[in-house]
Amino acid sequence: MLNEREIESCYLGQFIPLHYHHNMLMDQNRMHNFKSAIAYAVKPGAKVVELGGGTGVLSWFAAAQASKVYCVEFNPDMVREARKFLALNPNGEKVEVIHADAFEYLPPEPVDVVICEMLHVGMLREKQVEVIESFKRRYLERFGGPLPMFLPEAVIMAVQPLQQEYDFEGFHAPIVQFQEINVIYPGTVEMAQPAVYSIIDFNQPNELVYSWQGKFVVERNGEINALRFVTKNILSVVQERSSTIDWLMGYMTLPLATPVRAREGDVLQVSFQYRAGGPIPSLQASLRAEVLYEAALQPQRAPAFA
Ligand SMILES: C[S@@+](CC[C@H](N)C(=O)[O-])C[C@H]1O[C@@H](n2cnc3c(N)ncnc32)[C@H](O)[C@@H]1O
Repeated sequence: MLNEREIESCYLGQFIPLHYHHNMLMDQNRMHNFKSAIAYAVKPGAKVVELGGGTGVLSWFAAAQASKVYCVEFNPDMVREARKFLALNPNGEKVEVIHADAFEYLPPEPVDVVICEMLHVGMLREKQVEVIESFKRRYLERFGGPLPMFLPEAVIMAVQPLQQEYDFEGFHAPIVQFQEINVIYPGTVEMAQPAVYSIIDFNQPNELVYSWQGKFVVERNGEINALRFVTKNILSVVQERSSTIDWLMGYMTLPLATPVRAREGDVLQVSFQYRAGGPIPSLQASLRAEVLYEAALQPQRAPAFA
């Protein structure tokens, strides 16, 4: 019998099957940036915890410099796979794979860095924010301060109104979709610039509910029928270069239940509310968009040969 946490984990996709971990290993944008950020943040001899280790790849990146990595994984199949893969790689012996729930696990000693990649666009579905908030609370109780540094350090989340085509060979289906960054999709028209609706700093206490109302100036005439959610993870802040190592995730686009016709110059108001780790439909159900102010009517031009 599965307990309540396990049932929710299966439903929300926290028990990611092995073949999906292959996709994550193949995602160069994700892998390369995590590798660079971990190489920067994990100093020689450091102690590291990874929450949600999967195949163990990020723990293995850390093991290049760390003296010890505690890699915590909840899915027993992934615990087996991670141990197997780590045994095939140099420094793999520095990584201890622990079968535990990240909501309950604490390392046996203070650590320097905590890596956690339970990331989903909009911080939906996966438990990144809740897991880190729980870890910080329990860590401070057990070890006192200072807290270790977290990787990612921060997340920036934005939203953008779109006109999105939902025609599939004549079949109209307004449906959630994921799009790669840096790809031009002919069926997607950006109707306004994106607006940031939340910044999470994992070194600070964080709210678990995102409730937002904001305004956009519409840039072209059309029908706003979807909102694109943009999530950029600041994996590491590189102080010396005044720069950051980031991972911009694929975009998630959600259809609006009530599309809005808008013209260039109109002011559009958008609002939504959802909980970190909540299901995508909970955000989708809360989306609202309306034209707040219409663009000033253009003065009629005098006919050319009057
Ligand atoms: C998005 S995957 C990332 C895996 C790996 N860190 C990587 O970057 O390839 C998230 C992992 O967290 C694990 N996970 C989810 N909830 C967990 C929990 N409560 N405790 C421990 N592991 C968990 C999942 O089983 C999955 O392997």
